[in-house]
Amino acid sequence: MSMIHTAAATRGRAHTASAISVSDVSHTYGARTAGGMLALDGINLEIGDGEFHCLLGPSGCGKSTLLYLIGGFIPVQAGVISTSAGPVTAPGPDRSIVFQNFALFPWKTVKDNVLYGLKKAGFAAAEREQRAQRYIDMVHLTGFENAYPSQLSGGMQQRAAIARTLAVDPGILLMDEPFGALDAQTRRVMQEELRTIWRDSRKTVVFVTHDVQEAVFLADRISIMSARPGRIQHVIDVDLPKDRGEEILENRAFIGLSEHIWRLVREQAVAATRGAH
Ligand SMILES: Nc1ncnc2c1ncn2[C@@H]1O[C@H](COP(=O)(O)OP(=O)(O)OP(=O)(O)O)[C@@H](O)[C@H]1O
Ligand SMILES: [Mg+2]
Repeated sequence: MSMIHTAAATRGRAHTASAISVSDVSHTYGARTAGGMLALDGINLEIGDGEFHCLLGPSGCGKSTLLYLIGGFIPVQAGVISTSAGPVTAPGPDRSIVFQNFALFPWKTVKDNVLYGLKKAGFAAAEREQRAQRYIDMVHLTGFENAYPSQLSGGMQQRAAIARTLAVDPGILLMDEPFGALDAQTRRVMQEELRTIWRDSRKTVVFVTHDVQEAVFLADRISIMSARPGRIQHVIDVDLPKDRGEEILENRAFIGLSEHIWRLVREQAVAATRGAH
């Protein structure tokens, strides 16, 4: 596995600092018209500097909405979101996102997609080339640099999108079900790779997933959201060794915690189904 070393790795981690602070955030779609839909209701969440935080919850509970708000892609209507750079009012260079639906430019090749992000982030031309190749290799797309998204499988497109986001080395990494389209084997490799990157670069990660096992494998802490309108129902510490490989799946604490979380998520999923009828 590649080891990614970044400037951030030498900066060290301030355990007490909050990288992301979400206070009293609610969000209504169609707020200006009658019959607006409350998607998030009074979210409070403190995510520590260098923490790997997973958001779990039933479909439609507002996970993507919360991630977009933190990313600054949709305006905060009620409450406050701040990072160490100040209140979030727009996208910024400290935050980078992997969208749920990949969002690659279809008219650009894999390499040009990755280069685009680097250019926008202000990297010098020589470094852009070097970084683009390094991250394309890391997501196992070597040889596909000149392919267009339409020539790739869904999983390959997703890996290209991940390379584009990781290459700019943001302090805060927002990931919206990034591994959802991958086959089980690739997914496992990417999970391990992501934890390695996170550990070496000390990034703060907010990672949305439906997959309880994936959340327990990756996270330091897990927030379980309620069915719509989304609220934070439980915040759970994942008290497992930092070094996690395949063997952790057999670990009793891992299995016990996964089952516990699965029960909590299931309660919300059942509530969501009831709400839909
Ligand atoms: N642009 C929009 N306009 C109106 N309603 C929206 C919009 N985007 C999302 N919603 C609604 O807001 C709620 C929350 O959506 P969101 O996409 O944040 O949920 P999610 O938890 O990410 O779901 P999933 O797990 O299916 O990705 C849903 O009921 C959705 O239909
Ligand atoms: Mg979503």
